[in-house]
Amino acid sequence: MLKKETAAQMNEKTDVMDAVISLAKRRGFIFQGSEIYGGLAGTWDYGPLGVALKNNVRRLWWKRFVDTRDDMFGLDAAILMNQNAWKASGHVSGFSDPLVECKKCQHRFRADQLTDPKKCPDCGGQLGEARQFNMMFKTHVGATQDETSISYLRPETAQGMFVNFKNILDSQHPKLPFGLAQIGKAFRNEIAPRDFLFRAREFEQMEIEYFVHPKDWEKVFAHFQEEVKAFIADVGLDVSKVHELEVPDGDRAHYSKRTIDFEFDFPFGRKELYGLAYRTDFDLKQHSEFSKVDLSYYDEETKERFIPHCIEPSFGLDRTVLAILTDAYTEDTLGGETRTYLKLSPSVAPYTVAVFPLLRNKPQLVEKAREIFKMIKKTIPAAIFDDNGNIGKRYRRQDEIGTPFCVTIDFDTIEKGAGVTVRDRDTGKQERVTENELISFLTQKIK
Ligand code: GAP
Repeated sequence: MLKKETAAQMNEKTDVMDAVISLAKRRGFIFQGSEIYGGLAGTWDYGPLGVALKNNVRRLWWKRFVDTRDDMFGLDAAILMNQNAWKASGHVSGFSDPLVECKKCQHRFRADQLTDPKKCPDCGGQLGEARQFNMMFKTHVGATQDETSISYLRPETAQGMFVNFKNILDSQHPKLPFGLAQIGKAFRNEIAPRDFLFRAREFEQMEIEYFVHPKDWEKVFAHFQEEVKAFIADVGLDVSKVHELEVPDGDRAHYSKRTIDFEFDFPFGRKELYGLAYRTDFDLKQHSEFSKVDLSYYDEETKERFIPHCIEPSFGLDRTVLAILTDAYTEDTLGGETRTYLKLSPSVAPYTVAVFPLLRNKPQLVEKAREIFKMIKKTIPAAIFDDNGNIGKRYRRQDEIGTPFCVTIDFDTIEKGAGVTVRDRDTGKQERVTENELISFLTQKIK
């Protein structure tokens, strides 16, 4: 009995992932990378709606962690860095996962993710010995291809911030504590990319390196622990699906003295969404030593010179998008019909309002709808005009892409000046709102 339930639950989880992946493609959120050539594993292309959703997440993150604070500086460092930066950070020698290969079918797996470390999960063949596989994408810079021209696509955005620490001190003259914030691409040659956006080979991170006096690290760590949760609420995720895991000794990255993983209940299980780490003075010390450039900080008040310690909240942007999509995916019955919709928070939905004329072949309705659309768009830029298909189809389409409100212009609007109808995505209920009150009505609802 127990076995049967587990199998049924597993099917349900697979179904949700399949449904989300299919919706994401059908509606233009996310496509497989290089799809017409059969794809490239671990890469994903964002379509127009995916870009809008991702940009909303980015904006919320930047607003919370940079724009509304006076202790944070933005940065946009190069993806390619001098190879010595990766030697100093420990990535050249240690950024690896254990790899095993099947002796029969030659398929490769991450040894630490197998239930039976001796047996191939694909063909049942015997697996070889595990060896360490470095996950950095290696390349050469310039026309010569020798040891000196080696570079790597960055596996984390963090190092770009450490190597610019002195530039920030010299140009901005900040006082401790202060932080650097960066959003950008990271690349990892994952042995087994899987679960849609969850583990990709090319993805985006939103990271903060926050520098403190060593005596303050615990207080700042606790502050960011709360801020990470506040951001999770900003993007409208169900906070009851988020769980904090204190990463035990031995499981943490080489640079960390304390790490909390913020795990999320994805359809395929409870997995890491974000991380918060106390990186000590490891990185600045290493870069000082390898570059021979002094990366210490001088406190004018206490006359103390020291290497600051660092607290790092690290967020995967694509994992956030995946959490949002899987969390929002809903099936229900409305007006006797089953429907699929994305219960997206207005803060991240690609469109917050859709505007329709009731009928597309009545010029007066279309003209009035365009006029109201223009008026709405001035205050709510994420508005869309839609007159494709019949009204029922438009509602279904907007539901599927998660648009919280649909405004319809009908005959009562133009003949009786009776205002417009506003339909709520989640309940399907409509209410009439006068033209004068429409903007304040909508802005109240989506704030
Ligand atoms: N600078 C610290 C760092 O990079 P990490 O735990 O390796 O730490 C941080 O990565 C975050 O980046 C993760 O919590 C996750 O959200 C995201 N991430 C890591 N690897 C990823 C991958 N292969 N695909 C998508 N997102 C990934």
